[in-house]
Amino acid sequence: MNQELESRLLAAPVVPLIQADDPGVAVEIAHALVAGGLTVLEVVLRTDAALKCMQRVVDDVPDAIVGAGTVLSVDHAKKSLAAGVSFIVSPGLHVPVVETALQAKVDVFPGVATPSEAQLAWNLGLRAMKFFPASQMGGVGMLKALSSVFRDVRFMPTGGVSAANLAEYLGVPAVLACGGSWLTPKEVVEQKQFGEITRIAGDAKSIAASVRN
Ligand code: 3PG
Repeated sequence: MNQELESRLLAAPVVPLIQADDPGVAVEIAHALVAGGLTVLEVVLRTDAALKCMQRVVDDVPDAIVGAGTVLSVDHAKKSLAAGVSFIVSPGLHVPVVETALQAKVDVFPGVATPSEAQLAWNLGLRAMKFFPASQMGGVGMLKALSSVFRDVRFMPTGGVSAANLAEYLGVPAVLACGGSWLTPKEVVEQKQFGEITRIAGDAKSIAASVRN
């Protein structure tokens, strides 16, 4: 894994999602998250403007390490790489997406939810993967079961992670970081309450520090 990415995740093992229709709003969200101490950000490909949002956050928020999320296809992966992202995240495991990222020497975290998927990712050479949707697929219990056999793999649980259960997930040593949308609530974004996003990010960072330090 890229060393800078790894050391930032060690310092604050939380990866917020940014979903926006407007690149200017995406940049404001990113600044708010960085102000709260979270600097590894995932811009998700779920709006028509997502690629523009990604590009603007890469260009305008140099303190952040920006990844692409919800990367479903090689086309998505190539466009995200062209926007300058530093890592790629997918909800599932699609081998050509993984290969595209590896060829570009960019970290890739495909989603896995079963031992078979984790084993396929492991055999592609990956030692870090997303666990999605974490809460629905067994949460902490499933993570412990997976990490008991995939002993050199680190997982990034997302899906149903929140301030209420963040400490429990981060208490599992195999967890690299937790991701999720709870840091950027839709209504808070719509009302442009960027200070509230900074507060939520700061809370998450404090929870992480209390578990990991
Ligand atoms: C993702 O893309 O990782 C998921 O949307 C995260 O799930 P959440 O919205 O429950 O945090």
